[in-house]
Amino acid sequence: MPEQYLRGVISSALTPRSADRSKVYDELVPQVRELFRGEPDLLARMANLTAVIREAFGHHWVGFYRVIGDDLVLGPFQGPPACTRIPYGHGVCGTAWAQGVTLIVDDVELFPGHIACSPLSRSEIVVPVRGPDQRVSAVLDLDSEQVAAFDHRDRTGLEALVTLLVETA
Ligand code: SME
Repeated sequence: MPEQYLRGVISSALTPRSADRSKVYDELVPQVRELFRGEPDLLARMANLTAVIREAFGHHWVGFYRVIGDDLVLGPFQGPPACTRIPYGHGVCGTAWAQGVTLIVDDVELFPGHIACSPLSRSEIVVPVRGPDQRVSAVLDLDSEQVAAFDHRDRTGLEALVTLLVETA
């Protein structure tokens, strides 16, 4: 049921109207671009983007980890408290950082080295965020309580959304 992905609205000004997941992302991109206009601060943008995604889709956890030294360090997020540091190459997040590609994990129990911040998390998607120099500067992590909650539509939509983080305000 597509409606399960549309739990609630973002605000009167940020409201996805479609029940189709790809279309929700298509509708969010211009609205998030508008939300970011005039605000160049990356943390402020990350904070609002986690809220937009969680309000639009209702996932268990939505958040950023930023590359600081040899670790990913917890950044803006929505959801239960989470692990604060993830080393390079560890867990789904550290692997996405090391490989520089989006990872979709249908069943976290089958991913060797998965870091269980929440026992409720069953599937996960992690999208690398690239800075202006094209190096991975952060990752966006979405966790769901459902197995196989994420697919290519989320990969495409989330990759489009994270590119907005570094667009000129
Ligand atoms: N599960 C992630 C850790 C981050 S939490 O899910 C918020 C991982 O394996 O990298």
